[in-house]
Amino acid sequence: MVTSKLEQEILARRTFAIISHPDAGKTTITEKLLFFGGAIRDAGTVKGKKSGKFATSDWMEIEKQRGISVTSSVMQFDYNNCRVNILDTPGHSDFSEDTYRTLMAVDSAVMVIDAAKGIEAQTLKLFKVCRMRGIPIFTFINKLDRQGKEPLELMEELEEVLGIQSYAMNWPIGMGKEFLGIYDRYNNRVEQFRTAEEDRFLPLNAEGGLDVQNDMTKTSYYTQALDDIMLLNEAGNPFSEDAIRKGQLTPVFFGSALTNFGVQTFLETYLNFAPQPQPRLTEDEQYIEPTDEQFSGFVFKIQANMNPAHRDRIAFVRIVSGKFERGMSVTLSRTNKSFKVTQSTTFLADDRETVEEAVAGDIIGLYDTGNYQIGDTIVGGKNKFLFEKLPQFTPELFVRVTAKNVMKQKHFHKGINQLVQEGAIQYYKTLHTEDTILGAVGQLQFEVFENRMKNEYNVDVKMEPIGNKIARWIANEEVVKDAMTGPRSMLVNDRFGNKVFLFENEFAMRWFGDKFPEVELYSLL
Ligand code: G4P
Repeated sequence: MVTSKLEQEILARRTFAIISHPDAGKTTITEKLLFFGGAIRDAGTVKGKKSGKFATSDWMEIEKQRGISVTSSVMQFDYNNCRVNILDTPGHSDFSEDTYRTLMAVDSAVMVIDAAKGIEAQTLKLFKVCRMRGIPIFTFINKLDRQGKEPLELMEELEEVLGIQSYAMNWPIGMGKEFLGIYDRYNNRVEQFRTAEEDRFLPLNAEGGLDVQNDMTKTSYYTQALDDIMLLNEAGNPFSEDAIRKGQLTPVFFGSALTNFGVQTFLETYLNFAPQPQPRLTEDEQYIEPTDEQFSGFVFKIQANMNPAHRDRIAFVRIVSGKFERGMSVTLSRTNKSFKVTQSTTFLADDRETVEEAVAGDIIGLYDTGNYQIGDTIVGGKNKFLFEKLPQFTPELFVRVTAKNVMKQKHFHKGINQLVQEGAIQYYKTLHTEDTILGAVGQLQFEVFENRMKNEYNVDVKMEPIGNKIARWIANEEVVKDAMTGPRSMLVNDRFGNKVFLFENEFAMRWFGDKFPEVELYSLL
């Protein structure tokens, strides 16, 4: 076991990602959190997507043209004796496998929902990945300053659409123009909206209400909120820290990020329950505890060309155990190669700094000249092991790709090989014609691929979309016959040589299932 000082440092870490659908308010909330944490001086630094200030991942023209942040980045700040690490997930609909993989490196997730829209497609996808990992999920229902769905309806949606139990930590009093504040069940107070700071919090009396002298008690919104609370007390899920920890119950907070209302209350309450760094399993099913003395971590993302002047790559490492010190010797478990890590980076809101030390729970960026692959384990001591493999995600989009110039075949294959290994894109090959097919979770991955092939491997590629497909792997490949394939059920090999059917749509897949019930199909995540 490590010294108590280090142990304390580790236990103070809170590492999470914000999951949401574009426009729900993730950037706005992130900005407020960083502001409370003192990581930015004015709340406008992160939300520079239009001003171009948020330049950490501003490494590519696509990003600028589209005004989005292509790659997830990491932000760190201190609050209430916690060191908070926020891992950003690309909020645009063109999200990629990186977004999913980022969720492998966090200990909890904050789900931001637009009160008017409820659960949206991307939130659902990301939620499923969190659920699969069983990590705690905290919900922030945003934009209460606008008219949205009824709060009870939103709670129902959480349970029905996502299948997770919910517990309202606070409850809105009114909404939109009539938004008066939130009834804070957890802190036993009412937090008033658009009120001077000194009047902001009103304590609840023994009956759980406000003093009748207070004007708010005369409004129908207040009465309605109390009725709802009564209903929640009687018929709602009981609060259970254990269920939160297991990801079975999501605590729900209401607020308005834009007006900075309810965000600080959320942050403080969240930090009381958010898990400290969690142990990870190795391939041999051993748990590596965060407080184990030996440094270990895994690569969950590789980002190329963050600095266009240097064409460098950064491998993002989640530290699982112990302490990282710049200059230390580490071993890459996959190759058993040892080396000294001299170039390491930590991430602040809008800058990168050299990191001297970091501990379990933190994310560091290691300068990479092509040594690392996604999922790699690095260890800093004698005990050598591999962390469990990161899951592969089922791609939804496919293109057929060729080199425009046939003389460039060698570079073409080298480029594809490296980008596939890096996890930038998925590779498939048609069975007889051996055409190269690429698969992605989001369209942007193709654009990144095309751009990198040109800039890094000097190859212009031709990409011919073959559209959305449903990819299914096969548990009993021996029963597959040529006659089963066709334009609606294309058969390809993945990069490990496994056979995969690419179905044109749900209908084609069902038809196939009826016709060839002997084929056992399954999907990755
Ligand atoms: P995202 O990162 O999840 O995509 O969302 P972002 O924070 O960029 O917010 C999307 C839009 O919603 C922004 O408006 C933002 O100002 C607005 N918004 C965020 N939180 C709230 C809230 O609590 N209440 C209200 N009424 N609006 C909110 P925009 O006009 O698209 O962008 P901008 O011009 O403000 O940058």
